[in-house]
Amino acid sequence: MADLKIYRASTTAPVNIAVIKYWGKRDPALNLPTNSSLSVTLSQSDLRTHTTASCSPAFDHPDTLLLNNAPQSLSTPRSLACLRSLRALRSGLEDADPSLPKLSTLPLRLASANNFPTAAGLASSAAGFAALVRAIADLYALRQSPTELSLIARQGSGSACRSLLGGYVAWDHGTRADGLDSRARLVAPKAHWPDMRALILVVSAAKKGVSSTAGMQTTVQTSSLFQTRAKEVVPKRMAEMEHAILSKDFETFAKVTMRESNSFHATCLDTDPPIFYLNDVSRAAIKAVEETNDKAGRTIAAYTFDAGPNAVIYYQKADEDAVLKTFLPILRQKEGWGETDTKIDDPGPASPQVVE
Ligand code: DP6
Repeated sequence: MADLKIYRASTTAPVNIAVIKYWGKRDPALNLPTNSSLSVTLSQSDLRTHTTASCSPAFDHPDTLLLNNAPQSLSTPRSLACLRSLRALRSGLEDADPSLPKLSTLPLRLASANNFPTAAGLASSAAGFAALVRAIADLYALRQSPTELSLIARQGSGSACRSLLGGYVAWDHGTRADGLDSRARLVAPKAHWPDMRALILVVSAAKKGVSSTAGMQTTVQTSSLFQTRAKEVVPKRMAEMEHAILSKDFETFAKVTMRESNSFHATCLDTDPPIFYLNDVSRAAIKAVEETNDKAGRTIAAYTFDAGPNAVIYYQKADEDAVLKTFLPILRQKEGWGETDTKIDDPGPASPQVVE
């Protein structure tokens, strides 16, 4: 009788929020970045993508993907690159052991769900491609390490390579033309700095106006600030940031994080036509962090923004009351934040996102 079994694997991948930003590609086809970047991986229990990958001889071709129950294309060059690489690794296993089922030739059914707004500048593509790669790698029983899999996820979305590892993760830009040294590297596990916290302020759940991919390409072509940022500013900050994380120096971590966010958004503004990701609510969050730090007489909170208006505020557990005291009253008076939909993302103000 024909084998009509359904093979299945499920996984979750967390969102990561960069404190040193990736912005600019040296090779768009292989998705190789101009500069290295570094991120903090948020807890799996907070912002994450859940993905189930199945394959079966009972399924029809082609492969399909549902994201939050809506069909998505898998025929983009990036998705195809990920699927091709994963199938090649599975096929290698099947060649070495003919008793293994030939999963590499079967159609795939992928079903993903985000528990946060998609494409609103909250690193949804990072968690999405990381979960897709991890789920198929599990389905295919691949033995590659997370760092090796990060080479595949990078081709889906650059920032996704950092979501395959927990804790504090660097993505080294690499120098090889084939990109084999452009992958994620663990700087420190979550347990290294257990007091670190991240508060996510969901300013807007709307889809961003300019996608990261398109925005960074225009920046590379038009911004005069970009070259200095990629060649001089970021390499120095990468070193400072890694040192700050390893020595748990929050003051330096915070200062570099904020200057780096501002440098990234300045580069966006220097792009022609200019790209605006921050809005009035974002700017109010920056002001609130500055006031919190002034009041405390030291740097106890740091803001960062990706390609959208939503703020991520990093702070340490000991300073939680002082940080939340600033944000909660403002968040509860919606008028103070204009007409935007402002809230602290689930699970609510009392228990901010815990950084993993
Ligand atoms: C601002 O990883 O979404 O979040 O590689 O084109 O998919 P593609 O871009 P993407 O860009 C993320 C940009 C950023 C900064 C960062 O996460 O480092």
